[in-house]
Amino acid sequence: MKSQQKCIVIFALVCCFAVLVALIFSAVDIWGEDEDGITEENCESSCRAVLVENIPDDVPFGDNSTSHLPLSQGLYSLLDRALRVVEIVSPLWLLNSSDYESSFQPAARQVRALLSRLQGLRAKGIHLRISSGMTESSELISLGTKYAEVHYLNMTALTKGHLHSSFWVVDNKHFYIGSASMDWRSLATRKELGIVVYNCSCLALDLHKVFSLYWGLQYKDFIPTFWSKRLFALFNGDQPLELTLNSTKAQAYVSASPDAFSPKDRSSDLEAISKVIQDAQRFIYISITDYLPLFGMNSNRYWSRIDGFIREALLLRKIRVRLLISCWEKTHPLTFNFIWSLRSLCMEQANCSLEAKFFRPRVLRDGNVQGINHNRFMVTDRAIYLGNLDWVGNEFSHNAGAGLVISQPDVDDDRNSTVVDQLRMAFERDWFSGHTHSLQANKIPICNKQRINRLAPVKSSQHDGINDQKPAPMRKKTEGFLTRHFDERFDKSVPQDATGGLVIENYQERGQVKSGRHDNKKLLMNVNDQDSGGDAASQTAESSGSRETTCGPPL
Ligand SMILES: *[C@@H]1O[C@H](CO)[C@@H](O)[C@H](O)[C@H]1NC(C)=O
Ligand SMILES: *[C@@H]1O[C@H](CO)[C@@H](O)[C@H](O)[C@H]1NC(C)=O
Ligand SMILES: *[C@@H]1O[C@H](CO)[C@@H](O)[C@H](O)[C@H]1NC(C)=O
Ligand SMILES: *[C@@H]1O[C@H](CO)[C@@H](O)[C@H](O)[C@H]1NC(C)=O
Ligand SMILES: *[C@@H]1O[C@H](CO)[C@@H](O)[C@H](O)[C@H]1NC(C)=O
Ligand SMILES: *[C@@H]1O[C@H](CO)[C@@H](O)[C@H](O)[C@H]1NC(C)=O
Ligand SMILES: *[C@@H]1O[C@H](CO)[C@@H](O)[C@H](O)[C@H]1NC(C)=O
Repeated sequence: MKSQQKCIVIFALVCCFAVLVALIFSAVDIWGEDEDGITEENCESSCRAVLVENIPDDVPFGDNSTSHLPLSQGLYSLLDRALRVVEIVSPLWLLNSSDYESSFQPAARQVRALLSRLQGLRAKGIHLRISSGMTESSELISLGTKYAEVHYLNMTALTKGHLHSSFWVVDNKHFYIGSASMDWRSLATRKELGIVVYNCSCLALDLHKVFSLYWGLQYKDFIPTFWSKRLFALFNGDQPLELTLNSTKAQAYVSASPDAFSPKDRSSDLEAISKVIQDAQRFIYISITDYLPLFGMNSNRYWSRIDGFIREALLLRKIRVRLLISCWEKTHPLTFNFIWSLRSLCMEQANCSLEAKFFRPRVLRDGNVQGINHNRFMVTDRAIYLGNLDWVGNEFSHNAGAGLVISQPDVDDDRNSTVVDQLRMAFERDWFSGHTHSLQANKIPICNKQRINRLAPVKSSQHDGINDQKPAPMRKKTEGFLTRHFDERFDKSVPQDATGGLVIENYQERGQVKSGRHDNKKLLMNVNDQDSGGDAASQTAESSGSRETTCGPPL
């Protein structure tokens, strides 16, 4: 009897302890707002959406080409509508260009006006909340002292990554999401694309939850095991929001990365990308700054996720794929080999079409480049995905980002009036413009000659110069964009095992994939069959690829 009582007491104590631990770990619950009373039940879902773009003056597309609201005007329109709070997350803050920079970039000077508008919010009684990675940005420090509440995340401690999310949420009602960050170059010299959605509290509320997650992680050095219920996603790939977008029916949801930042029900960016690719029926157009199926810029481990989705679409479902990739100073030389490998899969296959092009920025007379295509979107015949991350393995596993999926499968008119149509037209405009170049047989565009020659190890912490904390050296000399034949490279003697290394590892990697999805496994087998089935072109592409790597980052 006594021991039974003892047992009960001990059991009770253990329970209390467990509850306490749970409470401590879930202590992210520290922002006491929701005073606007917008909830999942009463939110608005008849929304308006506008695509916003920044097209640098020096990157002309002709008079008749598709054009969208300029990004700066889209952001101003959000500030005009703000009544209570503006929440911004951006990988970096650099709106105030230096006098030197704006002396030869007149557009840069105009960006300072956006900074002034943000500084003016407090005087109008509107809160400005900013989530940021640990940046050294003096601009952010000065915003934080007078004009805004800034919460810092130590992403190094949390995920060993970076905060690459870039979006605005205004009054839990309107939002912006896209490729641009709060950097004058995003509003002046780079080609950016995003979307502004008005009167859409259902989706804005969900994006606000992603913001709140960052907000609550300020100065934390661990990720809580239990997330507060308030951070749970409202909508996801399985249960998207049913809404009307400019009076047309649509479905939408917000995705987030990395998995460690995905509370219950939140779709990850990879899930979103996979779903959009799988749901496509006719075509998939992808416009991305960097496409690299490796774990990282410094890694030689094959990362099959997105490459696998695309292979499946091409081979098993015969979807037509177009890839538009930026050719810029940070383009990894192996990019071309992976694209060749994809293209080779389609050779001698009926109804298999993969086309790839490179978007080249303008090289100004002083060697400076302008108009880097910084877009990060995908459009299919039925959906769009707009995200913050590049398509490189470690982006999705370590860095924080968010994405938006909108699908409008049932619209069947020719007016080209839906967001999906408009994004497709923006893609086609770029694709057929004079700024792009096709990948030609046996030729490889050299986007960064210096890098290839120098054998310089890439800085590991910054995958992407765009997100460097410091302004890019404006007068940096780039060698322009040359085209060389493979043959020239063959002259360089290459150790044999270096040649085999990458290819062999690919096969191992593929064989080992322990994906939860059986379909994936089957697909990868199929792909392996394809590869080993004596497809000469594929072999050539891959092996010349390995030669190429001797000039790239260390294997
Ligand atoms: C622009 O479109 C109009 C009518 O759609 C056409 O008449 C005109 O020639 C086009 N201009 C250019 C520069 O393509
Ligand atoms: C922007 O930078 C200039 C110096 O380049 C400085 O004088 C000015 O105060 C800054 N403006 C803001 C709004 O921080
Ligand atoms: C961020 O976390 C890392 C690793 O825990 C630590 O070394 C670093 O000092 C932290 N940075 C700041 C600014 O607190
Ligand atoms: C948003 O809703 C308000 C009032 O409900 C309306 O006045 C405004 O025009 C709407 N905005 C857009 C862009 O449709
Ligand atoms: C290719 O597409 C055409 C038209 O859609 C179809 O008739 C044909 O059967 C397809 N061929 C294969 C091998 O799938
Ligand atoms: C819609 O877009 C398609 C493909 O770009 C084009 O062929 C068609 O003419 C467009 N329709 C209208 C009404 O602009
Ligand atoms: C949706 O409506 C807004 C406001 O009326 C308009 O500016 C925008 O171009 C429309 N978007 C689409 C995709 O038609």
